[in-house]
Amino acid sequence: MEQSQGRGRAAFEPQSPARFDESKRRIAAASRFMPGGVSSNFRHGIAPTPLVFERADGPWLFDVDGNRLIDYYLGMGPMILGHTPEPVRRAVAAQLERGILYGGQSAVEAEAAELFCSLVPCAEKLRFASSGSEAVQAALALARAATGRRTVVDFEGHYHGWIPRGDVELLAWNDLAAVEARLAAGDVAAVIMEPAMCNAGAIAPLPGYLEGVRAACSRHGTVLIFDEVITGFRVAPGGAQQLFGVTPDLATFGKCVANGFPVAVVAGRAELLDLFVSGAAMHGGTYNANPISMAATVATLRALADGSVMKAIEPLGRKLMQGLDSALRAAGIQAVVAGFPQIFHVGFGLAGPARDHRDLARVDRARYVRFCGELLSRRVRALERGAWFLSAAHDAAVIDETIEAAAAAALAIRE
Ligand SMILES: Cc1ncc(COP(=O)(O)O)c(C=O)c1O
Repeated sequence: MEQSQGRGRAAFEPQSPARFDESKRRIAAASRFMPGGVSSNFRHGIAPTPLVFERADGPWLFDVDGNRLIDYYLGMGPMILGHTPEPVRRAVAAQLERGILYGGQSAVEAEAAELFCSLVPCAEKLRFASSGSEAVQAALALARAATGRRTVVDFEGHYHGWIPRGDVELLAWNDLAAVEARLAAGDVAAVIMEPAMCNAGAIAPLPGYLEGVRAACSRHGTVLIFDEVITGFRVAPGGAQQLFGVTPDLATFGKCVANGFPVAVVAGRAELLDLFVSGAAMHGGTYNANPISMAATVATLRALADGSVMKAIEPLGRKLMQGLDSALRAAGIQAVVAGFPQIFHVGFGLAGPARDHRDLARVDRARYVRFCGELLSRRVRALERGAWFLSAAHDAAVIDETIEAAAAAALAIRE
């Protein structure tokens, strides 16, 4: 990848611990107008301060204190091609010349829809939305309209956005017997799950679990929804449903679909999606399928379509997982590094891979937050909840730099 202004390493040679005084000052100032100085609850309460950024490029973020940080937040997951990738930038710049919002349909929207449906197994048709939370609400509306039932089964530790929680029952995930028993009553409209649990941990389904839930849903007339907002276009071009070979009735996507532009999707069986047209289910949105975001979608999906991006991330992700594991071991810190090379989880205090949310209750979060603080002072930004997102822009040099920082951070928190 070409070296753009400010990316050269020479200008950023280490270094004393990073400081974040200017971010602190600006957050305090912004707090006069925005609660906590932020626009999402998930950006609040982060030590030593929510950060304020000036720009981003490849695997790096540049903050207002002049720090260049290796980024594993990746915008909370979307930036699978890295920050500001050339093809997406070009497509968006070209579309800007042709208009921002039409309040109507566009050729680029139809192109994005066809491309998406060619990649995702369940997607006979789709609706574009502007956030994952909305796509999930739309999917639940379709399931309730199709079945005439209200109850939705969801799972402990799964997150689907800030959606209304009424008529939702929680079960333990990866427990097939529990789902089978609950569906047998015949009153459940939908089962919604992350097909690999990535909001807590990064846990794959047990062999046969997805297949078993699929069969139980079919048996009892329940709509199966995979929430692929994280896994979609990250673990495989067709999402976890492609990786694990189980096709849901509906699926929701967001994040990686447009590499950071606000695009989400509810996709699935045509007869379900057509309920939007018959008026049985409601879904709208001023910004849905805006042509700027659609141009970003086409550019991103084209880059991801043949799976080479995910494949290229794989060895680097494995190298980072192994490097973190060794660094923590060397410092005598008990931890499990598990998941997928494109998104994995570091669980401090675990003795073995987690199987469900209950296993994750043993995670030593306080100590991991300290680890993240030490990483940040060494200019590596990792999510305090334990997830690490990788992009095509994280090359071997960046991974080596990260492992070096992690080794030092692990020693710094050794008790
Ligand atoms: C699995 C899952 N579903 C839904 C959402 C909500 O998406 P958004 O934040 O775009 O509303 C998220 C967000 O992290 C998610 O991880």
